[in-house]
Amino acid sequence: MPAVETKFDPKDMEFRRLGPAGLKVSVLSLGGWLTYGGTQKGSIVKDCMQAAWDNGINFYDTAEAYAAGECELEMGNALKELAWPRDEFVLSTKIFFGTQRKEPNTRGLSKKHIVEGLKDSLARLQTPYVDIVFAHRHDPDVSMKEIVEAFTQTINMNLAYYWGTSEWSAEQIQEAIDIAEKYHLIAPIAEQPQYNAFHRERFEKEYAPLYEKHQLATTIWSPLASGMLTGKYNDGIPEGSRFANNSGMMSSNIEALKTEEGKTKIKKVKEMTKIAEELGGTMAQLALAWAAKNKNVSTVILGATKPEQVHDNCGAIKLLPKLTPEIMEKIEGILANKP
Ligand SMILES: NC(=O)c1ccc[n+]([C@@H]2O[C@H](COP(=O)([O-])OP(=O)(O)OC[C@H]3O[C@@H](n4cnc5c(N)ncnc54)[C@H](OP(=O)(O)O)[C@@H]3O)[C@@H](O)[C@H]2O)c1
Repeated sequence: MPAVETKFDPKDMEFRRLGPAGLKVSVLSLGGWLTYGGTQKGSIVKDCMQAAWDNGINFYDTAEAYAAGECELEMGNALKELAWPRDEFVLSTKIFFGTQRKEPNTRGLSKKHIVEGLKDSLARLQTPYVDIVFAHRHDPDVSMKEIVEAFTQTINMNLAYYWGTSEWSAEQIQEAIDIAEKYHLIAPIAEQPQYNAFHRERFEKEYAPLYEKHQLATTIWSPLASGMLTGKYNDGIPEGSRFANNSGMMSSNIEALKTEEGKTKIKKVKEMTKIAEELGGTMAQLALAWAAKNKNVSTVILGATKPEQVHDNCGAIKLLPKLTPEIMEKIEGILANKP
């Protein structure tokens, strides 16, 4: 086997262990929901991924459901063109929602769909394995034993190295860990929950015992609340933005902007923007650094439609050491939503 030329430069990126696993992921990562295969296709996908790589990001996230499989296809094509050594990046996908096919076994968490769905994802991604496969939601129609057995099987088949959950309750995650222990199966190591300055309860409170007891990892999503925490919606909905381009999917977010609660959120964003500027950063960078500051966050998954957003958002790394206890207290005072 000839020596592989290293292509990855970590720059000033921080890497964190994925909970109890030995795997290390960059504290910022990149995902493709609503973007790759959705509004963004072709070379822009590769350019965004290249921008992430250039900033020291080694972890990339997708799902079978994103743009009904088109996201995996786009990211797979980009990965092929980028030709990064496979051992220099970490890739995850998620199984549950399927790809909008109508046959009942082409979605959910039956053993059949977990194994066959993952094989289809790998074909779209043009890779023999993902590093982590997530159960994109819990499935009440399948016994927990079958779910844990099926994910164990994917690992034993070398289709994945680790498995995790997404938006499961703490109780469901604990049940999966208990079943794994009882039947000598493989337990989930990570949860993929929403976490941002406006969405804190489950991450900070409900999961707390799992961080303590199991060192549960987290790969958090929508760290900018779909863009709200950049300040881009402070004065309405700009053309070409997520709320404008995905008005159906984002309808509740759009409606919420008009409510008292929505207006209060915008006020908070404006106040936090002043802190970001005092620290020499942008609002987006502050929101991302605020999330990464939580030690129970393993990685903050960025979403980006343009390479410039990736570059801007990676500036959060420079802001992270500036978040002193005094600054965090100031932010807490503005947010006034600590669970
Ligand atoms: N497990 C789950 O259920 C689940 C659910 C959702 C997401 N995820 C994962 O988490 C990832 C990130 O979630 P997300 O995309 O919702 O993250 P987000 O950071 O909350 O939103 C990203 C969007 O905000 C806008 N944006 C980002 N940076 C910006 C900047 N600097 N200036 C202005 N606008 C900016 C872009 O949209 P526009 O340019 O279009 O406005 C971008 O696509 C997803 O890609 C996916 O991998 C997982």
